[in-house]
Amino acid sequence: MAAVPPPFLILIPLLAAAALTLTTAATIDPGDLAVLEDLRGTLTNAADVLAWPKHTDACGWPHVSCDRAGRVNNLDLKNANLAGTLPASFPTLTALQDLSLQNNALSGPLPSFAGMASLRHAYLNGNDFLSIPADFFSDLADLEEICLDDNPRLNASTGGWRIPPTLPASAPQLRVLRLDNCSLVGPIPPSLGAMTALQSLMLAYNNLTGAIPPAFASSTIQTLWLNNQRGDADRLSGPLSFLAGMTRLQQAWLHGNHFSGPIPDAVANLTQLTQLWLNGNRLVGLVPPALLSLPLLHDLKLDDNALVGPAPVLLARGANVTFSHNGFCGAACAPEVTALLGFLAGVGFPQRLAESWAGNDPCRDWLGVSCYQGKVTLLNLPGYGLNGTLSASLANLSALSDVRLNANNLTGRVPDSLAGLTSLRKLDLSTNDLTGPLPPFTHDVDVNVDGNPSFNGPSPPAHRSPTPTPPSTPADSPNNNNNTNKKKKSTLVVLAVTVPVAITVLALVSLAAVLLLRKKNNNGSVQPQASSVVVHPRSGSGSDPDNLVKVAMASSDSFGGTSSATSSRDSDIHMIEARSFVIAVQVLRSATKNFAQDNVLGRGGFGVVYKGVLHDGTMIAVKRMESSVISNKALDEFQAEIAILTKVRHRNLVSILGYAIEGNERLLVYEHMSNGALSKHLFQWKVHGLEPLSWKKRLNIALDVARGMEYLHTLAQQCYIHRDLKPANILLGDDFRAKVSDFGLLKSAPDGNFSVATRLAGTFGYLAPEYAVTGKITTKADVFSFGVVLMELITGMTAIDERRIDEETRYLASWFCQIRKDEEKFRAAIDPALVLTDEILESISVIADLAGHCTSREPLQRPDMGHAVTVLVPMVEKWKPSNNEAEDYMGIDLHLPLLQMVKGWQESEASMTDGDSILSRLDDSKGSIPARPAGFAESFTSADGR
Ligand SMILES: *[C@@H]1O[C@H](CO)[C@@H](O)[C@H](O)[C@H]1NC(C)=O
Ligand SMILES: *[C@@H]1O[C@H](CO)[C@@H](O)[C@H](O)[C@H]1NC(C)=O
Ligand SMILES: *[C@@H]1O[C@H](CO)[C@@H](O)[C@H](O)[C@H]1NC(C)=O
Ligand SMILES: *[C@@H]1O[C@H](CO)[C@@H](O)[C@H](O)[C@H]1NC(C)=O
Ligand SMILES: *[C@@H]1O[C@H](CO)[C@@H](O)[C@H](O)[C@H]1NC(C)=O
Repeated sequence: MAAVPPPFLILIPLLAAAALTLTTAATIDPGDLAVLEDLRGTLTNAADVLAWPKHTDACGWPHVSCDRAGRVNNLDLKNANLAGTLPASFPTLTALQDLSLQNNALSGPLPSFAGMASLRHAYLNGNDFLSIPADFFSDLADLEEICLDDNPRLNASTGGWRIPPTLPASAPQLRVLRLDNCSLVGPIPPSLGAMTALQSLMLAYNNLTGAIPPAFASSTIQTLWLNNQRGDADRLSGPLSFLAGMTRLQQAWLHGNHFSGPIPDAVANLTQLTQLWLNGNRLVGLVPPALLSLPLLHDLKLDDNALVGPAPVLLARGANVTFSHNGFCGAACAPEVTALLGFLAGVGFPQRLAESWAGNDPCRDWLGVSCYQGKVTLLNLPGYGLNGTLSASLANLSALSDVRLNANNLTGRVPDSLAGLTSLRKLDLSTNDLTGPLPPFTHDVDVNVDGNPSFNGPSPPAHRSPTPTPPSTPADSPNNNNNTNKKKKSTLVVLAVTVPVAITVLALVSLAAVLLLRKKNNNGSVQPQASSVVVHPRSGSGSDPDNLVKVAMASSDSFGGTSSATSSRDSDIHMIEARSFVIAVQVLRSATKNFAQDNVLGRGGFGVVYKGVLHDGTMIAVKRMESSVISNKALDEFQAEIAILTKVRHRNLVSILGYAIEGNERLLVYEHMSNGALSKHLFQWKVHGLEPLSWKKRLNIALDVARGMEYLHTLAQQCYIHRDLKPANILLGDDFRAKVSDFGLLKSAPDGNFSVATRLAGTFGYLAPEYAVTGKITTKADVFSFGVVLMELITGMTAIDERRIDEETRYLASWFCQIRKDEEKFRAAIDPALVLTDEILESISVIADLAGHCTSREPLQRPDMGHAVTVLVPMVEKWKPSNNEAEDYMGIDLHLPLLQMVKGWQESEASMTDGDSILSRLDDSKGSIPARPAGFAESFTSADGR
């Protein structure tokens, strides 16, 4: 210092001052020191994890950095095993720029970070913070990146927390917002889409709901994770239209939500996109070709949606696309599929149709579509809420003869090309919002454009038949059961229903009609001309009952609907048109004598089942829901139930004929089974003055039940589990053939072996042990119940009877297995009502073995229902009655009354069509499986049975 030349002397005080300043800079701000000490105090394991020596300057402590002013600007304590909480004083570290506390075990409340104006990067992820204050994000002017992901319990005990709508204003610099798995709820605020600096938004694994706000369409986001929201009922939903303008997007994870509607064509604008995961949503429509040719896109997942059209192929080299569990038609669609998808595109792919119109064969269960000889002839979608225009592509359906699109919201003109459809006979476009003029249809076409308010074209041709002409009663007398006569007369019955759930019935009956026609054709007597079918009404009970009455049960006449009709051309083919599968409550009221007590067939927790007689003498069974269980939710469930019932159709399952909803009334109409429940004939035949069931009948019943159950488990479109199989739910027809009823507990399972946790349902005594204990159900629980039913058929004893003196015998299933080993005891247990011959004894022994097998303790050791059928068939064969009554209605037989013919078709459909598709259908176990409606959860116990 002394050597310093005089001119510099003047600097000495300055240098000293500077030195002083430097020293001060190295010393921590007392306020910040207090925060660090607080932190030391709130951590429960500070002594172990923080090597912060006391009495030294905290700015020199490990993990702590200060700025020149001695303010803490960096706290780096990531992966440090910290436990405990953050002190309330924490936000006073207002100079803190970088905070790394990720991957510790911090818990307790997060203090508000409001006003930490220097904070740029805050990593709080991977902890267990329990709450976050509402003003946490206020005044974070410099914040660029914040991660709170993986704090799964954040506000969880108080119902989660919401993304503050004020975020853009309070953290305008935010580039990265990472909030995965931290109990967010509610919608994504629109303001988030307007954050101009935002590049990464990660909100996966929360309980977010609602649509993505349109403001996102102009956002600058590059990485967007919205996947796997957790809500059971609601997740992120709505259309993907927001994607259209997100031109910077590189990675979009949108999977595991409820996004719906088509993938917008505007994805063509997303030229930076490399990864797009859309799997597990409810997307419909075609995959836009522009998406597939995006230059950088190399990873596209589309699985588990309802997408249709040609299967997607990515153009980029080495790119991967997955698309299982959709409705794609294959590499290229059949022309009729393309035409129908064109129509669907015109009306915006409404969800219900988009999900139904899957695959490459429109003649296979497509809602509202019917075919003849593999060509689409009928498009029947009245009142479907179709919004949009009529596609010219319909003109490519060359056999289309009947188009019913009335009562929709169709706009625009009727395409000229439709006038070129030579097969077209009926075009009902009434009650829409179409504009004219009409293309020049020929006089053969019955066009109806009534009720299109803005229709300005010339009025449609005058030849359409406005009023029904009187029915031309079939030549035969109603009682004529002469087969040759019936064979000569050809009766084509087509149900044209207006209610979607009834489409199955429509398809079924029209196919039956087609099969009938085809048969005729083979006989060479009638030319099959789908285009010349003629609408022909019934006049109540005056028609030939054999041919018409039973089908009319599902048609409008018996249920009091209205039929429109035109008279026949020179053809003996008639077509019955039923307006609706919906039945007027009034009709059911009068059919059941105003739900008379005398007509009660049975009752259960959800309501009562009544016998009814329609005015034409048809017997029906009407399930009436208790009004106390009716709510909006119950209504949805009621409809879901109907949807299930219309899907499971088999001759060994009681079928649904219609339903009624009016005010508080919820009614389901079933076919009536004249001999009532099996329980009555098995356990109470004496009381009711009945004959005991012969062994032959019991075997037939066992086989019928096995077939019905096999269909439910493996052959129906989805795998269904009955859950309450018991004699009270097995109904017998005139001929003592059995049908399984009460699908109130029906549960659809993802597949046959998959277990589904359910609320315990069913009836004690028939419950499989694993189901009773765990509530997890598989089809093997039904197999168990079936085994118990077999035991009941053998012994005539109920599954459980507390009155049985001997405790051992109270539970049939366990007792049966014990005595089975003892020949003498076993013989004594056989129903005394059975006449025993050696042959019958041998047969009983086989069935007893099957019963034991079915009730094996381990579900895996139980056979499937197919095995039971295989065992039972030869047994029944052996006892086959000489008059062949048993198996004859397998094929379509013109001698049979129509309903039986229809049933025959159902059966062949059940065993062939669905059988073919069983693998694909069962594979297709996506989230849309209808859940068992809770309103029907109660077990229905037949009044005749116990
Ligand atoms: C999120 O949804 C799941 C599944 O429904 C639920 O268990 C959880 O409690 C919900 N969390 C919040 C915070 O609401
Ligand atoms: C691409 O974006 C522009 C403006 O953002 C929009 O006008 C255009 O329609 C988009 N392209 C497509 C194919 O939608
Ligand atoms: C495509 O999938 C294969 C096999 O899974 C994988 O090795 C490859 O890296 C994927 N390609 C791209 C571009 O993601
Ligand atoms: C048609 O539009 C109406 C009103 O916008 C909507 O409520 C309805 O769901 C739409 N129909 C279909 C099938 O999308
Ligand atoms: C047509 O749409 C309007 C409003 O979009 C709606 O009020 C009306 O009910 C719809 N009509 C039909 C038949 O769906």
